[in-house]
Amino acid sequence: MKGIILHGGHGTRLRPLTHTGPKQLLPIANKPMSQYALEDLKNVGIHDIAIILGDIYPEKVREYYGNGEEFGVNITYIYQEKPKGISHAIRLCKEFVGNDKFIVYLGDNVLRKNLTDYTKKFSSSDLDAMILLCEVDNPSKFGVAYVDKDDSSKIKNIIEKPKNSTSNLAVIGVYFLTPKIFGIIDNLKPSSRGELEITDALQLLMDKGNTIAHDIVTGWWKDTGTPEDIIHANRLVLDSIGTENQFLVEKDISTKDNIIIGSNTKISQDSSIIGPAIIGKNCKIESGVRLGPYVSIGDGCTLENCSIENSIIMENCKIDAQVNLVSSIIAQSSQIDGNTISKKSQFLLGERTHLKL
Ligand code: TTP
Repeated sequence: MKGIILHGGHGTRLRPLTHTGPKQLLPIANKPMSQYALEDLKNVGIHDIAIILGDIYPEKVREYYGNGEEFGVNITYIYQEKPKGISHAIRLCKEFVGNDKFIVYLGDNVLRKNLTDYTKKFSSSDLDAMILLCEVDNPSKFGVAYVDKDDSSKIKNIIEKPKNSTSNLAVIGVYFLTPKIFGIIDNLKPSSRGELEITDALQLLMDKGNTIAHDIVTGWWKDTGTPEDIIHANRLVLDSIGTENQFLVEKDISTKDNIIIGSNTKISQDSSIIGPAIIGKNCKIESGVRLGPYVSIGDGCTLENCSIENSIIMENCKIDAQVNLVSSIIAQSSQIDGNTISKKSQFLLGERTHLKL
């Protein structure tokens, strides 16, 4: 089998964070979110992976993943000049896929459960496609599947962002496909938002009498389209520290209860850290600093006087102010300093911002 990771898209809901890079490189628990997808694919034995690059700083993706060697996979890059939809991106991979079955993984989706059982089921079957579903509270934000009332193994319809849905089963961003999908995509028309939708491709595949299986995933799944989603995904991943560390195994780290600390990081004895939390390499946590719970601090940060909870601070940030940050995302190389703010503050700062309080 082969793998495809979608790394394009508009990323509008994550501005200003996506002004300086694709959203899929934003870190969750100090690891770019698309790396979770790559590792999931690798862990089921998929080594040939295509990454679809979009028009938001694609060179940063190439720089991070290179030819894949460092990550134990072979990477082929395929450009999608404009974000014309998930099906459009998949269609670009026809040559890469050849005659193999393949898994498409949206690079901004993070999934608790590994893909082992699903991959075994699909690879040994003659199914034309398999999708994974997850129960959600707000189905109108997702592609939604409607399961046949008389035969729960059958899907009747798949609809993109339905209003007043009677089903709460969202289609998650991991699709098991065969080359049959390419001919289907060739017959798709753009949706009202001008995209070739994956939900339309799956619906047309079914309409033409092909079999699509589904499974309902256990554990959590997160589609990280908004800053709130990213902070939530960060919490979910940090919660796995100390249980199985499925997500967070790296060299040069020490783990203490549910706190992970990178090498050469200096932490003052007069600071306090409440786990779960992760602190990168070469950081300085000075006296009086309070961190946690649910905090990720990237490599090379210096923190003084502040208190941070439920937040992501990316690499090389400097915070030196009596400020109480909650549910915040501070992108790399930003700086916060100045006067004391006694109330809790929630900030969303793009890369290299200097905030003087
Ligand atoms: P979305 O999150 O649906 O779209 P978006 O990235 O354009 O974001 P926004 O709505 O905030 O503007 O995309 C789902 C995933 O698919 C995401 O990982 C980006 C990727 N994608 C592509 O690679 N190519 C595309 O043409 C589209 C639309 C999405």
